[in-house]
Amino acid sequence: MIKNQWYAVEFGHVIGSTPHQVRLFGQDLVLYRDTKGEMVCHSDICIHRGASLAGGKVVGDCIQCPYHGWQYDTDGVCVKIPANKAGSPVPKKARVDNYPCVEKYGYVFVFFGDLPENERPPLAELPGMADDREARAEGNRVVQGEFAWNANYERVIENGADAAHAPFVHSTSFGNPNKPEIEDFDLVEHRVGDHLMGATYVVHLEPPDPKGIWKVLRRGKERPPVATGNGVFFPNITFLQVNLPIGVMTIFTAVVPVDENHSISKWTMMRTFFTQPWAITLLRADKDSYKRTMKIFYEDRATVEGQRPELVPFDLSAELQVKSDAVQVAYRRWRQGNIDRGWLIDEHVVGTGRYEGAKVVPSPARRANPELANAWVLKELEAKEALRERREVERA
Ligand code: FES
Ligand SMILES: [Fe+2]
Repeated sequence: MIKNQWYAVEFGHVIGSTPHQVRLFGQDLVLYRDTKGEMVCHSDICIHRGASLAGGKVVGDCIQCPYHGWQYDTDGVCVKIPANKAGSPVPKKARVDNYPCVEKYGYVFVFFGDLPENERPPLAELPGMADDREARAEGNRVVQGEFAWNANYERVIENGADAAHAPFVHSTSFGNPNKPEIEDFDLVEHRVGDHLMGATYVVHLEPPDPKGIWKVLRRGKERPPVATGNGVFFPNITFLQVNLPIGVMTIFTAVVPVDENHSISKWTMMRTFFTQPWAITLLRADKDSYKRTMKIFYEDRATVEGQRPELVPFDLSAELQVKSDAVQVAYRRWRQGNIDRGWLIDEHVVGTGRYEGAKVVPSPARRANPELANAWVLKELEAKEALRERREVERA
């Protein structure tokens, strides 16, 4: 996994004043809103006996552990140990990792890493995706859904940004196996300041040949190719935009990296057509959008879950690249850039641990307070370079 990124992990509307657990790279996190409605994200392992805070409750701005009632504030600092005598100080070590989080585009973004605020990469800017719920619904009909995969998130992301598989995998929804050629395209890089935040491209896909009655009705009337946008916004959002004769359908999908072999696609579809109440009631247009979007994922499932190796290789030459793979190459290069910065965490069993105890991705407070270096009960997961260096020292 790559640390020090803003991962979209959940739909914003799901989070309220009841604790909500999400799993990211095998580490459980708990999300809730404080009394001001601000989102809070902590490591979900109580440092007393390892209970899940998500099973507890929110008390004022704090989260209370379900086991012995310890309370942690919005910074993850324990402020109350009920079993201790009133007035006795709370030990400095009583704190959990707190991760910065923001709500944007209808998603919760969690900064999974320890960089101070001024060094963090920005959030990706999603084109045409309004920040607030009402604005997103303006001129659009919005439908959301989820799809769970037995596959690593990077395989799912590369699939979501890939146009060349449509004629084969999606021949009944939007690809035509008789016309699989991908025209030459320009890859558009998306930047925020100096940061490369994504890559997209547009190709014209031939629609599937008409079937059944449409074969007769459409005879002699060629359907024009459909301009289709594809791409990825780093670290974990894919983009699909289909320009149909009746309007535009855009799908942004947050691919949540649950653990090494599991991911969940949390998608938001926006369509500019069939937005009128009659279309929604009479044509059941929302239900139809939901079904059509899920069909795309079901079509992809067997192929993506069957890819070997399960993880996207680090070496570009470990799989063959052709011209139409430009966006995947851009994604792999972006990933390599982060690995070069020392942000790869190569231990896949995050959160659990045998007798040596659980480990967590380090949060900003660890770096911001060097005097607390020993004040963390849970050990931090080391980046790959640091781990390698330590093992070399141990061996010497
Ligand atoms: S395990 Fe959380 S308070 Fe004891
Ligand atoms: Fe697909």
